[in-house]
Amino acid sequence: MEKAFYITTPIYYVNASPHLGHAYTTIVADVLARYHRLRGIPTFFATGTDEHGDKIVEAAEKAGVTPQEYADRISAQFRNLWPELAVTNDYFIRTTDPNHVETVRRILRKVHDAGDIYFGQYEGFYCVGCERFYMEKELVDGKCPQHETFPEHRKESNYFFKMSKYQNWLIKHIEEYPDFIRPERYRNEALAFLRDPLEDLCISRPKSRLTWGITLPFDENYVTYVWFDALINYVTAIGYPDGDNFRRFWPVAEHLIAKDILKPHGIYWPTMLKAAGVEPYRHLNVHGYWNVDQSKMSKSLGNVVKPLDLKDKYGLDPFRYFLLRDMVFGLDSSFSEEAFVQRINSDLANDLGNLVSRTMTMALKYGDGRVPDPRIAVDADRLLWETAAKTLTDVEACFAELALHKALIAIWEFINVTNKYIVEREPWVLAKDPANRGRLETIVYNLLEALRVTAVLISPFMPGSAGRIMDQLGIADAAGQTYESLRTWGGLKAGNKLTRGESLFPRVELKTVEAIPEARKTEVAPIKPEISYEEFEKVDLRAAKVIAAERVPKSSKLLKLTIEIDGKRQIVAGMGKDYTPEEIVGKTIVVVANLKPAKLMGLESRGMLLATDSEEGLTLLGFDRPPKTGAKIH
Ligand code: MSP
Repeated sequence: MEKAFYITTPIYYVNASPHLGHAYTTIVADVLARYHRLRGIPTFFATGTDEHGDKIVEAAEKAGVTPQEYADRISAQFRNLWPELAVTNDYFIRTTDPNHVETVRRILRKVHDAGDIYFGQYEGFYCVGCERFYMEKELVDGKCPQHETFPEHRKESNYFFKMSKYQNWLIKHIEEYPDFIRPERYRNEALAFLRDPLEDLCISRPKSRLTWGITLPFDENYVTYVWFDALINYVTAIGYPDGDNFRRFWPVAEHLIAKDILKPHGIYWPTMLKAAGVEPYRHLNVHGYWNVDQSKMSKSLGNVVKPLDLKDKYGLDPFRYFLLRDMVFGLDSSFSEEAFVQRINSDLANDLGNLVSRTMTMALKYGDGRVPDPRIAVDADRLLWETAAKTLTDVEACFAELALHKALIAIWEFINVTNKYIVEREPWVLAKDPANRGRLETIVYNLLEALRVTAVLISPFMPGSAGRIMDQLGIADAAGQTYESLRTWGGLKAGNKLTRGESLFPRVELKTVEAIPEARKTEVAPIKPEISYEEFEKVDLRAAKVIAAERVPKSSKLLKLTIEIDGKRQIVAGMGKDYTPEEIVGKTIVVVANLKPAKLMGLESRGMLLATDSEEGLTLLGFDRPPKTGAKIH
């Protein structure tokens, strides 16, 4: 058995509020932490916020506050959200915490003293969104592949970390420990990065350009590059270099991230650790992305429901269950309210909810309100115990490879075997003859014990519901309900007082997009007279990428856009009240490409973008799947 368990989430940027993606990673980490605690393994779970760098400065400027004020505000949103999602982190780190600043400076000093940091010139393409330089060959059509925006060209003197020196060591390490980065697809991706020569990492920013960062301990004029600062949080959180927690938990460190930040975690971080004389982490666990199709999300009062809000609409435990059940760890998944509602009704209301309510009804009807003594077990009961034992082994195996959806499938197999046990044993038939009392009580006991087993097994995923099942079973000592206590059948004490609870998972209905009220239909503008296909064909509609946008001075409505169709061109659009320039850049819109050029406030506009009215003002026409720039619309 493992001696200890240390789980981390990425520390989230404070330039935007928490959303579904952050919630998912943090809930997965929570399930892992709860599972290990249940198994009696000393556990440490850290999460937090990443607060330095250009991105935060930009967001703070936009909000009209200082970076510190902005970071305080958004960091608090993350910190306050976690208890609402039943997340039980042991530590919440902020990169602005004094102990973290100290740790970053200590590590920088160490790596500098060892001769692995040097001063040099850098010239390259910098993406502010990614906070990193790109090599020309990494760009797609000259643009950042993540943000699809043109990076800035920058030339600076900076400090560099000799990452290249550790390339061969890292390749060997990944080869020697095949699950160092997992699942395998991401290990392969990391090895693919390492096939090309690794460049040294620029780890500073001149204060002339950015002051919001940790000052380098060996040069007052520079701050630390945000990734070199952020990654170190994982050791600050456990008291690097000499805290007890560091000694205990660092050798078992498990990082959890999504695929977007594989490179800093899979390449920069192990080489940084190596240079600082620290052993690498144990595993990097990489999951896929939740894609949220807003057009499929249900709407009420015309507002799109944010996935995170669905936890209030349908309940926290169903929300956690759905996220964990519907994503195969490592692959992408689509979030849809329909699928969520379906899971609630089939797995939760039907399978588990019904099992609990049928069992409690029978136990109270056929007994004296207490857990009966199992007296007459027969061979036919064996399947239930054996399935319970097998489920334990299966769940352990699934956790070991982070296949949480499979762990849930295994638990649900046990639930279904229990449901079948009811149907096959027919307690209601036995209840007709008092001579069967001993056998009937044994069956009821087995069912109640199966509920205890289920409650313990689901507790890392749905802690609230697990507690409610245990309450119904009269279990006073919830802490005693460990994973170990499931190894032998019969842990539920006879004589416990049973209490019927409210339905655990009521069935729910999907409230789809509200129908348009009759009164509103009359507001639809009358359709214009017919035109022929040839006439329509004359309008050349194109998909166009917005490359740059700015407000037209002295106009509240007009935006000047640079778009790309067959080349770059300028259009002027009256969207300024409905969209900010930042919102519009990067979008692919629909443009009438052959409209005669016109002049608006002295600016030439070559084309017209298409938009329509929505309850919140104008909305741009867009695409379900990204088309090629310049693609014809037909
Ligand atoms: N600050 C850096 C991480 C530094 S860690 C030393 C950062 N922050 S972030 O706010 O952008 O968070 C990225 C992480 O949020 C992803 O790796 C993932 O954990 C989570 N997710 C954000 N969007 C997501 C989805 N759509 N789907 C799943 N998880 C995603 O990068």
